[in-house]
Amino acid sequence: MTAPTKASRAKPATAKQAAEPRRERVFSGIAPSGTPTLGNYIGAIRNWVAEQDIYDNIFCVVDLHAITVPQDPAELRANTRQLAALLFASGIDPKRSVLFVQSHVSAHAELAWILNCVTPTGWLNRMTQFKVKAGEDRESVSAGLYVYPVLMAADILLYQTDVVPVGDDQVQHVELTRDIANTFNFRFGETFVEPKARIREVGARIMALDDPAKKMSKSGAEASYISLVDPPTAIRKKIARATTDSERTIVFDENRPGIFNLLTIYQALGGETREQIEAEFAGKGYKEFKAALADLVVATLEPVQQRYTEITADPAELDRLLAQGAEQVRPRAEAMLKLAKERVGLL
Ligand code: AMP
Ligand code: TRP
Repeated sequence: MTAPTKASRAKPATAKQAAEPRRERVFSGIAPSGTPTLGNYIGAIRNWVAEQDIYDNIFCVVDLHAITVPQDPAELRANTRQLAALLFASGIDPKRSVLFVQSHVSAHAELAWILNCVTPTGWLNRMTQFKVKAGEDRESVSAGLYVYPVLMAADILLYQTDVVPVGDDQVQHVELTRDIANTFNFRFGETFVEPKARIREVGARIMALDDPAKKMSKSGAEASYISLVDPPTAIRKKIARATTDSERTIVFDENRPGIFNLLTIYQALGGETREQIEAEFAGKGYKEFKAALADLVVATLEPVQQRYTEITADPAELDRLLAQGAEQVRPRAEAMLKLAKERVGLL
C-alpha cells in the first residue's frame, strides 16, 4: 500500500532523516467570510507564523466552509484572495509552510462525504457552534452548516495531522474529529491519526470592542472589530470608543470584561506579563491606556499592511503561490483519500 499509513510515515527514508526527529504536522484553517480581524490574528494567524520552524505546517483558506452560509460569489472570490494575501503578509512563508485554498484540492469534499456516513447525527446535534450560528433559523440554514464540523474533520484527517492550533471556539470540533477518526479506525482498521487541539493561553478568545460578551468576529458590526486592513485612524477611533466600565483601575479582572479584553489584546501583542502591564498603568486612566493600546495595534499591523499592499499589486504571483500550495498537498491528500476509499470498499 502506498498511502501514508501511520507506520510508513514514521519510518525515516534516509540516514539524515533518521537523525532528525520527524516534526509534528500542524493543520489549520480559516474561512474567507470577510476581512480577518485582530481576533483571528491573535487567536490564530500570529501563532501559525511564530511556529513555522517548529512544525510541518499546512494552512488552508477554507472556502468550502465559507459557503455553508450564503455568500455573494464575487465577494467570496475577492475574500479568498484577500485572506490568502493577508496570511502571506502576516508572515506565512511559502518556503517553510504550505498555504492553499481548500476547494483547489477536491479530496477534502470527497473525504467529508465518506466521514458524513460514519458520523452519528447525535454528535452533530451537540455542536455548540451550529446551535449558535443556526439560532432561531434551525430549519432553514443549509445542511452544509450542519455537517460543517465533518468537513473540518476531513481537512485535518487527510494529512495525518498531529496538532490543530485553534481558538477556543474550535476545540469541540477537534474533539469531534478525534471521535470520527476513532470510529472510522475501529470499523475499518487503523487509518487516521487522532489529532490534538492546541490553544494559546493568552488571546484564545478576543471579544468584540463594543460588547465584551460577544466574540470579536468579522461578521459583527463595524465598531465591534478591528480588521487587518483598517487604517490607523479607524483603529484609534474604535479602541477609543471600546466599551469599558465606570471603575478606574487598569487591572486584569475577568469580572470587568471590557477592560479585561483590552488588556488581553495588549498582553497578546506586547508579550509582557500581567504584572508588568498592571504596574505600567498603575495610577493612569483609561484614556492613556487606550492610546497605548492603539499605538501597539497600529505598530503591529503596519508592516502587515505594507506587505499586503505589495502582494496585491501582483495578482499573478499570488495565483502562482496558491497553485503551488495546492500542488504540494494534493498528492498526500489523494493518497489518504484512496486509502479511506479502499478501507470502506469503494476501491
Ligand atoms: P474564523 O474566522 O471563525 O474562520 O476563525 C479562524 C481562526 O481564528 C480560528 O482558529 C478561530 O478560533 C480564530 N478566531 C476567530 N475569532 C477569534 C477571536 N475573536 N479570538 C480569538 N481567536 C479567534
Ligand atoms: N472551523 C474553523 C473555524 O471556524 C476553520 C477550519 C476549517 C479549521 N477547517 C479547519 C481549523 C481545520 C482547523 C483545522 O475557525
